[in-house]
Amino acid sequence: MAGKVITIAQQKGGSGKTTVTINLAIALRKGGKRVAILDTDPQGSLGRWFMTRCERLGDAKPGLGFRTASAWGARYEARELAKDHDYVLIDTPPKMGVDGRPAIEIADLVVVPVSPSPLDLWATEPTLELARGEKKPILVVMNRVSARARITREIRQTLKKLDCKCARTSLGNRVLYAETSGNGWSVVERRPKSVAARESTGLANEVKRHLV
Ligand SMILES: Nc1ncnc2c1ncn2[C@@H]1O[C@H](COP(=O)(O)OP(=O)(O)O)[C@@H](O)[C@H]1O
Ligand SMILES: [Mg+2]
Repeated sequence: MAGKVITIAQQKGGSGKTTVTINLAIALRKGGKRVAILDTDPQGSLGRWFMTRCERLGDAKPGLGFRTASAWGARYEARELAKDHDYVLIDTPPKMGVDGRPAIEIADLVVVPVSPSPLDLWATEPTLELARGEKKPILVVMNRVSARARITREIRQTLKKLDCKCARTSLGNRVLYAETSGNGWSVVERRPKSVAARESTGLANEVKRHLV
């Protein structure tokens, strides 16, 4: 049976697509699941992360596949990866426009990271439209959330009005995310007892529920 494809998309650069891809991918491996990541961003941040990881771990491969693809090649590569992985995560570039369609078309779920700011929310509109046009389930994830910020609640309410599913788990603004990514790790591996690890696991569980 083919694995599930999760596309992480959002037009705004710096919203956390790559960070979410990394931490979701590693959290989804729990229980021996085979996970693959596909970098379709020419900037190649996810690829750099994977290479750093390979250097550190010697062989990061068991249970974690990696490929790159152009925007138009995303669909083909993801389908290939889904043949022998349980989950395939596609990281996408900002401003993907209509070129980004193949990554959305192949998705079983589109995950949209949003920082709690109206500017970020506006930037999600083209992504939401594209995903809705393809009749894909969407899960918005609040990222870089500060504790007790009123704006986070407001953004959640706006999303609700837009009839958008928002993950109950949000990711806090934590140095650990930046530190671990730079070293080829994820938060669940480096600090399994941290709040960040709990968030990543919580998000992975929600994503799994949305895929069944
Ligand atoms: N939850 C977070 N807490 C702290 N820093 C974060 C968080 N999410 C992302 N970042 C940092 O923000 C920057 C942009 O994130 P990134 O994942 O590269 O976004 P994108 O892939 O959407 O451009 C990076 O420096 C990253 O380390
Ligand atoms: Mg990125």
